[in-house]
Amino acid sequence: VFHTPELVPDEVTADCAIAIDVLRATTTMAAALANGADSIQFFSDLDELQRVSESWDAGKRLRAGERGGQKVEHFDLGNSPLECTPDLVRDRRLFISTTNGTRALKKIQTAPIVLTAALTNRETVVRYLLEKQPETVWIVGAGWEGTFALEDTVCAGAIAQRLADQMGCKIGELSGNDELIDAVTLYRHWQTELLELFHHASHGKRLVRLDGHADLKYCSELDTVDILPIQGETGVLVRG
Ligand code: MLT
Repeated sequence: VFHTPELVPDEVTADCAIAIDVLRATTTMAAALANGADSIQFFSDLDELQRVSESWDAGKRLRAGERGGQKVEHFDLGNSPLECTPDLVRDRRLFISTTNGTRALKKIQTAPIVLTAALTNRETVVRYLLEKQPETVWIVGAGWEGTFALEDTVCAGAIAQRLADQMGCKIGELSGNDELIDAVTLYRHWQTELLELFHHASHGKRLVRLDGHADLKYCSELDTVDILPIQGETGVLVRG
C-alpha cells in the first residue's frame, strides 16, 4: 500500500496496480462504467485532455474536469459520481482529469494490470484478485497533493481485509508493508461508520463546504456497484 502517488517508485514492478481515490475520482469512474459509459480516458493535464478529446465525435464524448473539488469551467461534468446518470454517460467516452486521482492512475499505468477501486466496487476488485492471483499487488491511494488521505487508506484496508477473509488467512500472511497493516487497522475501527470517518477527513470537509453531502454518502457505501474498471489500451479504462 502506498499512501500517495509520490511514494510509488518510478519503475512499476507490480503485476497488478490499483489506484484508489474514493473522494471521488475512482468512485465516479466505477459509477460511469456501471451506468453504461463506453470507456474512460484519464489525463493529469487539462490541456492535453482538451486536445485529445477534440478528435472524438462530439456526441460520443464527455469532458469531466475537477480542480480543488470544483468543476472545471466549460467542461460537461465535474467529478461527482451522481452526475454520471445512464442517460448522460451511455455509450460515451469520459475524458477525465482530477486533482489527484488521475495523477495516481498515470503513475501506475505501466503495470501489466491496472485497476481502479473505490468502496463501492470493493467486492468486484477482490473477486478479480482472487481469480487472477497476481503475485504482487500495489494499492496506491491518490491522497491530496502529496499527503495521506483517510478515505483512500480505509478503502485499501477494506480490500485487504476482504481478501484475507476470503483466503482464510491473517493480514500478516498477505506479506504487505507497514502501510497495509495501518490501512487494515483503520478499516477495522471505522468499518461500520465510514460516512462519519469521511466527515473527519480533510477532503471530506472540503466537499461538505462545497455542498457535497450527497457525494460523501454515495462514496461511503460499500459493495454497491458490481464493476471492474480495468486498463485496456494505455490511459483508457474499460469494463473488465
Ligand atoms: C481528486 O482527484 O483529487 C478528487 O477526485 C477530487 C474530487 O473530489 O473531485
